[in-house]
Amino acid sequence: MEESTQPKKLTTASGRPIFDNQNTQSAGERGPLLLQDYFFHEKSAHFNRERIPERVVHAKGSGAYGTFTVTHDITHLTRAKLFAKVGNECRMFARFSTVGGEKGSADTERDPRGFALKFYTEDGNWDLVGNNTPVFFIKDPIKFMDFIHTQKREARSNRKSPTMMWDYWSLNPESLHQVTILMSDRGTPYGYRHMHGYGSHTFSLINAANERTWVKFHFRTQQGVKNFTDEDAKHMKAQDADFAQHDLVDAIDKGDFPKWTMFIQTMTEEQARDFRWNPFDLTKVWPQGEFPLQEVGTMELNAVPENYHAHVEQAAFAPAHVVDGVGYSPDKMLQGRILSYPDAQRYRLGANYEHLPVNACPFGFSNYQRDGRMALGDNGGPGPNYFPNSFDGPVEDKTQGEPHEALDGFADRYDRNEGPGNDDHYTQPGNLFRLMKPEAQRDLIHNIVGAMSGIEGPKKDLITQRQLCHWFRADIRLGMAVAKGLGVEVEMPAQHLPEPSLAV
Ligand code: HEM
Repeated sequence: MEESTQPKKLTTASGRPIFDNQNTQSAGERGPLLLQDYFFHEKSAHFNRERIPERVVHAKGSGAYGTFTVTHDITHLTRAKLFAKVGNECRMFARFSTVGGEKGSADTERDPRGFALKFYTEDGNWDLVGNNTPVFFIKDPIKFMDFIHTQKREARSNRKSPTMMWDYWSLNPESLHQVTILMSDRGTPYGYRHMHGYGSHTFSLINAANERTWVKFHFRTQQGVKNFTDEDAKHMKAQDADFAQHDLVDAIDKGDFPKWTMFIQTMTEEQARDFRWNPFDLTKVWPQGEFPLQEVGTMELNAVPENYHAHVEQAAFAPAHVVDGVGYSPDKMLQGRILSYPDAQRYRLGANYEHLPVNACPFGFSNYQRDGRMALGDNGGPGPNYFPNSFDGPVEDKTQGEPHEALDGFADRYDRNEGPGNDDHYTQPGNLFRLMKPEAQRDLIHNIVGAMSGIEGPKKDLITQRQLCHWFRADIRLGMAVAKGLGVEVEMPAQHLPEPSLAV
């Protein structure tokens, strides 16, 4: 049978065909409108409800569907079905984002980039909600809300405020490692295809023998790392605020599918117990010389969702979503995120947000959660809505238990910056600076000076001096060059003076 070439009929949301979508019903040609014009009322009322709360952070983003393929065997480490054999393929969804800007903000702002992945596995959805940086600004989740306030708008001026940012960072030196990455050209990546991604936290892998190994996930771009300089990023902001969205969508639409290679770093429980610093500290990396990258698989993004709001805006990623064979760790930041994301999503999308197509497990789900706003699907049908029951309702899977985790100590509020290695906020950022090529060092200094030049007001000198101390403690040459760029006089013995190449 030949397909009809007739366009679909325009209807109301309840399916009644609309016969005039251009002229509101009025009392006479020149008279007022009639309350009974339901076509108009429905259209206008729905429009008034088009906006949902944007994500409180990471509001601006781009998403795509893709495939993850296992290329190397890690079954000795994990029993997750996703990794059960080389060649396994898993459908996935990725969303990249900036952090501090609103939904309409520019893609090229200096900011970390979100790197959120959802793997639709047969054991449920596994979300890895990371960034393009292996570390973070803080190591205790109770600081997150204050930190994010400094990245948003200042209370009175309603402007972004370098004063707030540097005030906070200078008072929280644990941020220095992430701030160093942010101020380098990695803070302005060239779209989303040319950056690495990191799970950032330590997670755990659990194998068939119920043994636990600590793990960090890395995704290395196969497109090659490419960043904007500060000037180019600002220029692009004026030219195309949605640059990263264009770049991703255009590449996929023309069949140039972006790919990343997934690697893991692993640490045994014994190594973790004896490690030089807390291996669950999110402000530090595990040195790759000691904990080498092990290849696991390839992720390819190959389909742009047909509707942005339905798939990208309504996507709900949560660090809470792990699957059998992959677990949490005592990383305080990870622990703090477990409750926060679903809480935010119940507010942003509603209690039944897991029913939305982008979030629903394609292999199905069965539980005793019922009702609530917008319950899609059959809401459990006629099945029992309590557990346990005698009516063939879903039962527990006793094979999925995790190994015991030995705990000790007293319930208290422990200072995260006390204890061996915990107060060393300087070695890793200093090493990062010393490892950079001279051009990268110059760009870093240039970007820091540019950003710190925005500090203003009566506390300008205090904040500037305090942050300068941190740069000095990371690396004297870095501190000197930033001070010089800011026009701050520093007395320093001649042998410590920076090389001329670092001048800004
Ligand atoms: C205690 C620390 C943190 C808290 C409380 C927190 C909280 C949140 C919240 C409430 C959202 C919005 C969720 C939504 O509405 O869907 C969000 C989004 C996000 N967060 Fe965090 N966050 C924390 C730390 C981190 C860290 C350390 C990373 C990366 C390593 C990260 C990466 C992301 C990403 C990528 C998104 C956007 C996900 C998407 O694309 O939908 N966050 N965060």
